[in-house]
Amino acid sequence: MKSQQVRQHFLDFFASKKHTIVPSSPMVLKNDPTLMFTNAGMVPFKEYFLGQKNATDKRVADTQKCLRVSGKHNDLEEVGKDTYHHTMFEMLGNWSFGDYFKKEAIAWAWEFLVDVLKIDKDCLYVTVFEGAEEDGLGFDKEAFDFWKKYISEDRIINGNKKDNFWEMGAQGPCGPCSEIHVDIRSVEEKAKVSGKSLVNMDHPQVVEIWNLVFMEFNRKADGSLEKLPAKHVDTGMGFERLCMVLQNKQSNYDTDVFTPLIREVETITNNHYGKNEETDIAIRVIADHVRAVAFAIADGQLPSNNGAGYVIRRILRRAIRYGFTFLNTKEPFIYKLVNTLSKQMGTYFPELKAQKQLITNVIKEEENSFLRTLDQGLVLLDGIIGNTKGTEVSGKKAFELYDTYGFPIDLTALILYEKGMTLNEEGFKSELEKQKNRSRAAAVVETDDWVVLYEDDDEEEFIGYDTLEAKVRITRYRKVSSKKDGELFQLVFNMTPFYPEGGGQVGDKGYIEVSNGNVIYIVDTKRENNLILHFAKNLPKDPSQIIKVVVDEKQRFKTACNHSATHLLHQALREVLGTHVEQKGSAVHSKNLRFDFSHFAKLTVDELSQVEDFVNARIDSKIQLQEFRNIPMETALEKGAMALFGEKYGDTVRAIQFGQSVELCGGCHIQNTGDIWHFKIISESAIAAGIRRIEAITGDAAKDFFFENNRVFFEIKDILKNPKNPQKAILDLQEENSTLKKQIETLLKDKAKNLKGDLINEVEQVNGINFLAKKLDLDQNSIKDLCFDLGNAVDNLFVLFGTEKEGKAFLTCFISKNLVEEKQLNAGKVVRELGALIHGGGGGQPFYATAGGRNPEGIEKALSEAKRYIV
Ligand code: ALA
Repeated sequence: MKSQQVRQHFLDFFASKKHTIVPSSPMVLKNDPTLMFTNAGMVPFKEYFLGQKNATDKRVADTQKCLRVSGKHNDLEEVGKDTYHHTMFEMLGNWSFGDYFKKEAIAWAWEFLVDVLKIDKDCLYVTVFEGAEEDGLGFDKEAFDFWKKYISEDRIINGNKKDNFWEMGAQGPCGPCSEIHVDIRSVEEKAKVSGKSLVNMDHPQVVEIWNLVFMEFNRKADGSLEKLPAKHVDTGMGFERLCMVLQNKQSNYDTDVFTPLIREVETITNNHYGKNEETDIAIRVIADHVRAVAFAIADGQLPSNNGAGYVIRRILRRAIRYGFTFLNTKEPFIYKLVNTLSKQMGTYFPELKAQKQLITNVIKEEENSFLRTLDQGLVLLDGIIGNTKGTEVSGKKAFELYDTYGFPIDLTALILYEKGMTLNEEGFKSELEKQKNRSRAAAVVETDDWVVLYEDDDEEEFIGYDTLEAKVRITRYRKVSSKKDGELFQLVFNMTPFYPEGGGQVGDKGYIEVSNGNVIYIVDTKRENNLILHFAKNLPKDPSQIIKVVVDEKQRFKTACNHSATHLLHQALREVLGTHVEQKGSAVHSKNLRFDFSHFAKLTVDELSQVEDFVNARIDSKIQLQEFRNIPMETALEKGAMALFGEKYGDTVRAIQFGQSVELCGGCHIQNTGDIWHFKIISESAIAAGIRRIEAITGDAAKDFFFENNRVFFEIKDILKNPKNPQKAILDLQEENSTLKKQIETLLKDKAKNLKGDLINEVEQVNGINFLAKKLDLDQNSIKDLCFDLGNAVDNLFVLFGTEKEGKAFLTCFISKNLVEEKQLNAGKVVRELGALIHGGGGGQPFYATAGGRNPEGIEKALSEAKRYIV
C-alpha cells in the first residue's frame, strides 16, 4: 500500500467514526513561548485539554507535521543511526475532547489496524500503565479489561511511568497511555526470541506504532497532579513506521516515504545506499533532515542564529556535515532534493509546492555558507595541529574552533584521528558544560502555578481595537522569575485593551491604577495559546478587586502608524517589483518597522524611491481605515486579501483595508493613513537567499531623521569650509585623492626597483638554490611585481616574503619554474602550510602563491620555516 493511501485510509476511517478531519497545523509555533515546534499531534489542541477553550468539534482526526529536536522530546542525535527515528515525521491522530474515552479509543485502534489494514494480530503487543506510587496512581485495570476483549492476556504488558504515562512537558496535560507495538521480525527470529521480551527495548523490528493517551491530569509546577475538568483521548501513530509495517519493510527508510529522496542522494553524490554503514547513516540523515528543513521554511521559519531558526540551521548543518564527511560532497547539493520532496508530498501539503523556489534558494545559500565555514575550519585546525606539541589537541582549542567558528567537533576528532592524533575529549566536554551552565543560568525562568480567581471568566476578550482603558478583573495570575527580568507577575484579565505580541507587532505596555494615584507598570503583553498574559511589576494588594488598566497611548499610536505603513509598504513592493513579492516576516515597534519579503535582487535606488513615493502618496491621500471583523475567510479573500501559508487562522478572520491594500491582520492600525505623516526607508539588505529586508520609520521618527540628516549636512559643509557647491567640493577632493594615490603607486614602484638591487645582494645559496626569506614593508601589488622582477634577474630562485598591513598578515612565495619541475617544489603548498602560522590560508600556482591570515606574529616563524623546503 502506497504511503499516500495509508494516510487517506486513516482519515477516512475516523471520518466514518464521526470525526472532523482537519488539516495539519503549522510545525513551527508562533504563539507558544513554552514550545518552539509542534512535537506531537496534540499540541494544536492543548487548550482544549486544559479546559481553557471549548472545542466546537468534540471528535477530530488529522495527520500532523511534527518535529522532535528540542526540549523534552528530542530525537536529533538518534536520527540516521537507527532506521526508525526522525526529526520531522507525520503523526496520525484521533482526538476526543471530553467525548469518548478508553473503550472507543481502544476498540477503534484495533479495528483500524486489524480489520481495515489487515495487520496480523499475532504481530501485535499492547502495553498498559502499571501505576506509580509517587503520583498516587494505580494499575490501569480499565484499559487492561478493554484490551482483553481483543488480544490475549499474554500479549498485554505492564509498562512503567516512563513508557506508559504520557506528559507533554514538565508541566501540562498528561495521563496514562497504552501503546501498540508491532513485531515485524522473520518467523525464525520470532521462534528464537519472544517478541514480548523485546517490547520497549529499542529493537529496530519490534517498534511502537501507536500511542493512545487517556488525558485526565494536569502536571503542576510543584510536580503534583490535578484532575482535568474532563477526560480526553489523544492518540498518535507514527505514519512512517506504519508505512514500514504495511509495505513489509525492515526500515522506515525503505518505504516510499524516503526511497525517492534516497535514490536522488545516490544519483547526485554517486554513492550507494546499503553498501556501507557510514554512508548509509549519512544518506538517512540527509533524507530525513531535508524534510524537516523544507517544511520549516515552508512554515515561514528561516534558518538563523537564534531560537527556532537556530534549531533549523543546526539540523541543516548536521546534514551538510554528514554529506561532507561521509559522502565526500564539497559542493551544495541538498537543495536539489527539494524538487523530489515537493513532487512526493506537495499534494497533501501544498505549502511545499507553493514555496519550492524559496526553500531551494534558502537551503542552497545555507549550504554554501556552511561549506565555507568548514573550509576555513580545516585551515584553522591545520594551524592548531601545527602548534600542538605531542599528539593530543587540547579540549580548549577544539572548543574554540567549535564555539567561535562553528566547526563541528566530530569532524575535528575524525581529522585528528586520520593524522594519528587525538582530541582531549574530557577537556572539550568540560568547556562545553561550562558554557551550557553560563547560558542555562541566564535563561532559567521559574514559573509558579496559576492562582485561579475566577474560573468561569477565563475565556478572555480583546477589546483593545476600540478602547485603551478598561475596568477589568484578574481571573488568574502567577509569579515568574528569571535572571534577565527579575520577578514579574503574569496576569490574565477577563477582558483586556492590551494587545499581545503577535503578527509581528510588539505587545502593549501600560499600567494598572491602584489606590491613591499609584500605578503598577505593565511592561509587556504576550499570548500563550488563548491566554493573554500581562507582565506586571507587582500584584495589586487585593487581586480579586476590579481594577482600571490603561494602555500607553503614545506608544500604541506610533506602533499603529508603523503597522499601517507596513501594509502600505507590502502593497508598494508588489506594485513596484511584482506580485512574486510575499511577506516573509515583519517586526512592528513604536520606533520603527521591519519588513522581510521574497525578492531576488537588491533594490535599486530608483526602486527604493518609487516604493517610498508610492507609500507617501497614500499617506497624502488620507485614506480611511476599513476594518472587517469576524468575516468568513472566503469573504476576505474575495476582497483581495492574500492567504498565507504557515498561519493558523480560525474560521473567521479580520481584514484591514486601506484603499487597494487588503490584509488579513489581527494587529492595531490608525484610523486614517494621514496619521502616518511620512514614510522613510532607512535600510535595505539581504537576510537570506531570495529574501530582502526593509527597515523604515514614520511620523516623529521620520521628522527626527530629517533633522539629524540636516544637522550632519551642515557639519559636513562646515568641515569643507562652507563651499557654495558642496557636491562639487567633494568631487574635487575625490579627484585630488585619486591623483595622489597614483603618484604614491609610482613612488612605491620606484622604491621596489631600488629594493630589488638590495635584495639580490641578500640572496643566499642553499643546496644550489638561490634562497631569500624576508619581511617587507610593501603593498601586495608591488610585492608581486618584485617577485617576478627578481625571478627574471636571478635563476634557481626560491623566495618567501612576509608583510603586515592593518593587523593582517600576508605571505608570498615565488619559485623559479625549473625548480618547480626538477625539485617538485610547490609555492601553493608552501603558503598553505605556512599559512597556518599566520592563522589563515591561501593558495595559487606552483610557481607563485599567496596567503592571508589574522596573525602577524606568525610571520617571523613562517619565514624561518621556509628553508626547510629546500634542505
Ligand atoms: N501525545 C501522544 C504522543 O505523542 C499520542 O505519543
